[in-house]
Amino acid sequence: MLKIGALSLKNRLIMAPMAGITNPPFRQIVRELGAGLTVTEMVSAVGLSRGHQKTFHYLESVAREKPVAVQIFGADPVIMAAAAEKAVSKGADLVDINMGCPARKVIKNGSGGALLRSPSAIERMVTAVRKACTIPLTVKIRAGWSPEEANFLEITDILEDCGVDAVTVHPRFVKQGFSGRADWRIIREIKKRLTIPVIGNGDVSRPEMALEMRKETGCDGVMIGRGALGNPWIFRQILDLEKGIGAQPPDLFERKRIIRLHFSLLSRMMGEYVAAKMMRAQLLWYTKGLPHSSRFRGAFTGIKDINSMMTALNHYFDTLMESEKLSGDNA
Ligand SMILES: Cc1cc2nc3c(=O)[nH]c(=O)nc-3n(C[C@H](O)[C@H](O)[C@H](O)COP(=O)(O)O)c2cc1C
Repeated sequence: MLKIGALSLKNRLIMAPMAGITNPPFRQIVRELGAGLTVTEMVSAVGLSRGHQKTFHYLESVAREKPVAVQIFGADPVIMAAAAEKAVSKGADLVDINMGCPARKVIKNGSGGALLRSPSAIERMVTAVRKACTIPLTVKIRAGWSPEEANFLEITDILEDCGVDAVTVHPRFVKQGFSGRADWRIIREIKKRLTIPVIGNGDVSRPEMALEMRKETGCDGVMIGRGALGNPWIFRQILDLEKGIGAQPPDLFERKRIIRLHFSLLSRMMGEYVAAKMMRAQLLWYTKGLPHSSRFRGAFTGIKDINSMMTALNHYFDTLMESEKLSGDNA
């Protein structure tokens, strides 16, 4: 169990916020498969403050995925405080502030990772948001702007002093983007210094690595991003490893069930057309390494309506299950 402020999570595993991916359908699936907490993709504080309907959609969640954290990004303390209030009023269980995004359109406005270059701006912003936010508040940071500006200890001291309830650390520099490796030693250094919970993040691509991260860094929670793409079962696999049970990959039946569920939740929420587009990327991850998967994905590309997609999906998996059964019978 992990406690973040007044919020008790049922375990220490958190699905990372991912733009374009951690929408309600995906969050529901990883919750079912064991994640203790999920986070919305980053939501623009300016968009919320201007009342943009599209931005408000990002705050929507369903009961089955609770608890949900809403991640906001922005540069202005007053606007960020107002955005946090909106998130609370829409039912968020936790507010998270993005201080790591390296995307140009975010940093050019002084938001996301750009904030790490200005500790005084961080102090002003977090003080304002803390005052406005009546629920647990966390901040997700990187190690600093660049190796020359590796100010993570200064930043995390400020965050703790401002009353943040936990900090998530993705130990790459903003200028690094996603290149190189996450340096878990940075998580350990921060953990040694702070009294609030520290959540480690970065490069946990296999279930065993979550246990390794906790052992190497002493972190209180582990956040997983890319490792859950195509393998939302990673959370259950980690929980099994913690119990001393081997981490089993899902069988074909379970794989098919989750892909179908993902697809139908997406199309219910976004309509067939958008769901089909989104599902193509998901299928690439879900079927990676399976027999004849590239041929199947190629065939899938030309299909635009959901019924034909489901039929193609069923056919592919039924064929795989049949040949698995045959090879089992012949063994
Ligand atoms: C496609 C994609 C979208 C992301 N979107 C966000 C986001 O909206 N907010 C955020 O804080 N981090 C975002 N991240 C970063 C992840 O939350 C995470 O910190 C990073 O991927 C490292 O963890 P991992 O190695 O487990 O993937 C994104 C990463 C990817 C690959």
